[in-house]
Amino acid sequence: MPHWTDGLLPQEWLVLLAVCAVLAGGLRLWRPVHQRGLRATWFFINLAMASQALALLLAANAYTGPAGVLRETAHVLAVWAAIQIGTLLLFRVLLPAMRVHLPQIAQDLTMTGLSLGWVLLSLRLAGVDPTQLFATSAIVTAVVAFAMQDTLGNVMGGVALQLDNSLKVGEWVQIDDLSGRVVDVRWRFTEVVTRNRETVVVPNSWLMKNRFRVLRREPGQPLQWRRVLNFNIDQSAAPSAVLRVLQQAVLDASIAHVASEPPPSAVLLEIGAGYHHYALRYWLTDPQFDDPTDSAVRVHALTALARADMRLGNPLAERLVTHEDELSRNARDQREHTRRTAAIRGIALFANLPDAEQQVLATHLVRAPFVAGSVITRQGAVAHWLYLVIHGEAEVVVDGAGGRTVVARLRDGEFFGEMGLLTGEPRSATVLAVTDVECYRLDKNGFGQVLTARPELAEEISTLLAQRRAATGARLEASAQPAAPARSKDILARMQAFFK
Ligand code: CMP
Repeated sequence: MPHWTDGLLPQEWLVLLAVCAVLAGGLRLWRPVHQRGLRATWFFINLAMASQALALLLAANAYTGPAGVLRETAHVLAVWAAIQIGTLLLFRVLLPAMRVHLPQIAQDLTMTGLSLGWVLLSLRLAGVDPTQLFATSAIVTAVVAFAMQDTLGNVMGGVALQLDNSLKVGEWVQIDDLSGRVVDVRWRFTEVVTRNRETVVVPNSWLMKNRFRVLRREPGQPLQWRRVLNFNIDQSAAPSAVLRVLQQAVLDASIAHVASEPPPSAVLLEIGAGYHHYALRYWLTDPQFDDPTDSAVRVHALTALARADMRLGNPLAERLVTHEDELSRNARDQREHTRRTAAIRGIALFANLPDAEQQVLATHLVRAPFVAGSVITRQGAVAHWLYLVIHGEAEVVVDGAGGRTVVARLRDGEFFGEMGLLTGEPRSATVLAVTDVECYRLDKNGFGQVLTARPELAEEISTLLAQRRAATGARLEASAQPAAPARSKDILARMQAFFK
């Protein structure tokens, strides 16, 4: 009796097996990551070869008896191996080459569907009616399905997640308190890798039943995630000023992963007992860095609040407990005054002033800390302060038609902002904090008092100012952005006119 596999000669089966072996070997060498998926294929290929060889040894052309069974087994296994190799090539080589990345479950489903089809076809060709097989084993099927209902729920969940596109590989998800990137959707579970490099396995059936958040990129837009940071500020600070300081703190800082567009915004959320509750919102461009970027934004905001002398608010009850008495307040003020006097002595320009004048000067100083990366003062802005650098490093840059030029670096004991403050002109340059910079600011009034008492200081400063302008001019010229020269005599005249 002719057999269904008669159509193919033994050599053709061997060729099929050889092709499978070559492809599997090539794939294994070329993409070692798929080694695990290829293990079963290798096993089938070897088993098919062994069965075929044994069948030939037993009886070259027999299609019945043990030789026939072995031959048939070999054929079934050979096609199975071909199905596995084909799906692996399609999903792991061809589709990725076309930039189509499907989750593991798509590959598994295809492979299982094709394998199942092949088993049914083999049964039919071998003369067994598969429908009868199903009918007789209906009870067994029901028992198995009942026992596997959780697993089936997960499988159906995985398929549904893929079909309705609610979760895709590569997307950032937030599931309860967990936040991470989806790396694969499998039969039973979805794999999420968190920022801590933990792989979290979430059952698909759970994802089907519960709420989770997906961070999705709008077409043609970069990925952005709005973050909200909360601050309680003492109620003595004017809300409009607090909102401005919070917003400006982020605008003036170049923090990695903070989008410049849309800009940050601040809102007053709630009025508590003794404090106001504000929210500072900004857009994060990479969810991988949520905590560190939140922290950097908080550091900038807190430093800006400290500069503006806006204190964090405590609930009223706590304030009653920690309410400071006059003695402790005086002691604190005295400590601050000593710090300011020390700061003045550390600035070469003021170091030789008599003690009494240093003390007067100290009363005009305001503490102004800056975090690395912030803009301390901006080119073109109206000048209100002279800055004394107590600790840290700042960079003076000039923006012109030809771009940005670094003209100087300022360190401990130096001062800046004298050009604008003494002549009334807008700031001639932008000063950026390279490291965290501890500054004190001196207002025009305080500086006017010193200059009136010590005219020789005005001359010293105008000479330094002229030197700085010359240096800036030389730097700009070197970068092909000429600046107007200035003589110290002109500057002195302008200073005298400004301070009358
Ligand atoms: P002002 O113009 O008020 O604001 C920017 C400040 O940068 C400026 O005052 C100077 O104090 C400082 N500055 C500008 N050019 C130089 C320079 N070449 N060397 C040191 N400081 C400078």
